[in-house]
Amino acid sequence: PRVAVIVVAAGSGTRLGVGAPKAFVGIDAHTILRHALRSVFEAPEAQVIVVAPSDRTGDAETEVREAAGSRRDLVSVVAGGATRQESVAAGLAAVWADVEVVLVHDAARALTPPEVFARVIDAVSQGSDAVIPVLPVVDTLKRVDADAVVEPVDRSVLAAAQTPQGFRRAILDGAYLDAAADHTDDAALLQAAGTVVRTVPGDERAFKITTPADLERARALVAPVPT
Ligand code: CTP
Ligand code: MG
Repeated sequence: PRVAVIVVAAGSGTRLGVGAPKAFVGIDAHTILRHALRSVFEAPEAQVIVVAPSDRTGDAETEVREAAGSRRDLVSVVAGGATRQESVAAGLAAVWADVEVVLVHDAARALTPPEVFARVIDAVSQGSDAVIPVLPVVDTLKRVDADAVVEPVDRSVLAAAQTPQGFRRAILDGAYLDAAADHTDDAALLQAAGTVVRTVPGDERAFKITTPADLERARALVAPVPT
């Protein structure tokens, strides 16, 4: 395929605090990783690379086998690293030669609708080097110094970044070759390297499961509607 999706799922889930790697925590009968994969396999066809904790690659293979259906031959599992950036680098090393567009997606954004993948792929296909889905910020924001409010912050100039983030493959490869500092997302790494990053609309359902309250929200969203 022309597109690859790297699903980073190698984090430990410290803030969720369940005592198991976050990707393998259940939302309902299915894990966070399984839900994330479901969206990936409903999105436009792509090579899929799942980056799992090094001691859980077998479990990730099982999830892939159950989720991939007819796309099984497009999927591989690789071991991640100590930081998200190292995990992305491990995934990038497994991207096939003919791929031109690479998406990087947090498994923790388990309920991201397939349309978001399509929007990001379309924007990169139309010529953008780097594309991220964003949502407007709804909270009233303050710049603070310890417990003192320094000033209000104009939220109209801010956006909340989500994944999947999409990149022209050569540009992402190049940025990772030169990467020094650790960045919280790939767009930040690319921007540090001088790439123009564009936005497309994100989706509320692409929120990241980070805290126990986020897991409760995900559970409520997938719960069957009472009849
Ligand atoms: N991730 C990864 N490898 C790492 C760290 C993070 O693949 N070494 C992935 C996570 O699995 C997750 C995504 O990056 O899908 C976003 O990271 P985050 O939400 O911070 O997950 P964790 O690092 O697992 O959580 P925490 O920071 O609370 O420990
Ligand atoms: Mg983390």
